[in-house]
Amino acid sequence: MPGYDFGPLPTKLPPEAEAVKGKNSLQAHAAKFKVLAGAAVPVRALQADPVFQELVADQYGILVPENELKMVAIRPSLDKFDFTASDALLAFTKQHGMKLRGHTLVWHGSVPQWVRQQSSTLDLRKVMVEHIQTVMGHYKGQIQAWDVVNEAILPSDGDPNGMRKTVWFNAMGPEYIDLAFRTAREADPNAKLSYNDYGVEYDKEDQAEKRRLILAMVRKMKAANVPIDAIGVQAHIRVGFNQSMGTGLKEYIDAIRQMGLDVYVTELDVNEDDVTYDDVGKRDAAVAETYRQFLTLMLSNPATKAVLTWGVSDRRTWLNGFNGHSQKFPNRPQRCLPFDAAYKPKPAFFAIRDSFDHKKI
Ligand code: G3I
Repeated sequence: MPGYDFGPLPTKLPPEAEAVKGKNSLQAHAAKFKVLAGAAVPVRALQADPVFQELVADQYGILVPENELKMVAIRPSLDKFDFTASDALLAFTKQHGMKLRGHTLVWHGSVPQWVRQQSSTLDLRKVMVEHIQTVMGHYKGQIQAWDVVNEAILPSDGDPNGMRKTVWFNAMGPEYIDLAFRTAREADPNAKLSYNDYGVEYDKEDQAEKRRLILAMVRKMKAANVPIDAIGVQAHIRVGFNQSMGTGLKEYIDAIRQMGLDVYVTELDVNEDDVTYDDVGKRDAAVAETYRQFLTLMLSNPATKAVLTWGVSDRRTWLNGFNGHSQKFPNRPQRCLPFDAAYKPKPAFFAIRDSFDHKKI
């Protein structure tokens, strides 16, 4: 992922990474408590980096392609689908006994140009339904869970139900969500179906509002027998857990559990933009502590069944990519993930692993 120069790729795993293989890995610890430990990976970077492959294969029980199953990546034109990259990741997960997660079928982001350019003339209902049927059909029986709809709530867009005014919403109204989930269940009855969103982690009024709107939407879906199995908490959080996060999130996942749904932590990373000191040891400790407190809360609820970080190593993270560069510290790459750029496990790794150990069952 372009952005900062982290130097040449590691030619072998550092001894610290060797020491956390096998029974010391994230997945081994998570599995004891029936939780899946996983990560998002950029597929082409994985293919080009055998040491990264070794690290990933050993640490995780589930992977998700960071971008390669998005509509823009998989559907170059109305009638053409290209599964090359995601098929390669599926083969990799099978080879190493891992599961694969699907991200994402219906989203306002990564919509191809051909959809945007012809949105007034295309039958977008048909485009969406065919998309779900074709993509889920291609992977039928092979994907643990799909993010069927991603990030559909955005109160600031002004809709009375808080719906984000996406290309799909504008064409079909709020019903597009029910239709997407019903189509998904039919296309692959064995896949878990999830609604995935960000901005629900903090005790701020705008996030409390978002939690209320998501819960209201899902309650309505359940009342109408729309199939849904889980809610994804993306968890792009920031260093410093403190009073600003806790109560609202706890109540949110309790409410999800009461509806009989699972919770997946889908895109966890810790942005250290607010950290003013440069000392790496102190920064790593602060990031680790944030992971620990967040996961302790999430994993104290038995509804939480999977924890995936959004990336593996600081070498490749959207937070160090073109759009993610820190505004406050543009010359300081973020140390936001469990492994550093040389694949050495950082305090964040041990904080995540310890959180799995303390999961209540
Ligand atoms: O592959 C092209 C490359 O050829 C080109 O030179 C470069 C220049 O712009 O762009 C590259 O594609 C970029 C792609 O990431 C791969 O790096 C896209 O522009 C860029 O938009 C894309 O960003 C991704 C973003 O979603 C939008 O799809 C990030 O990697 C990815 O981490 C991010 O992930 C999202 C989740 O899907 C949903 N939740 C939030 C999360 C973080 O934003």
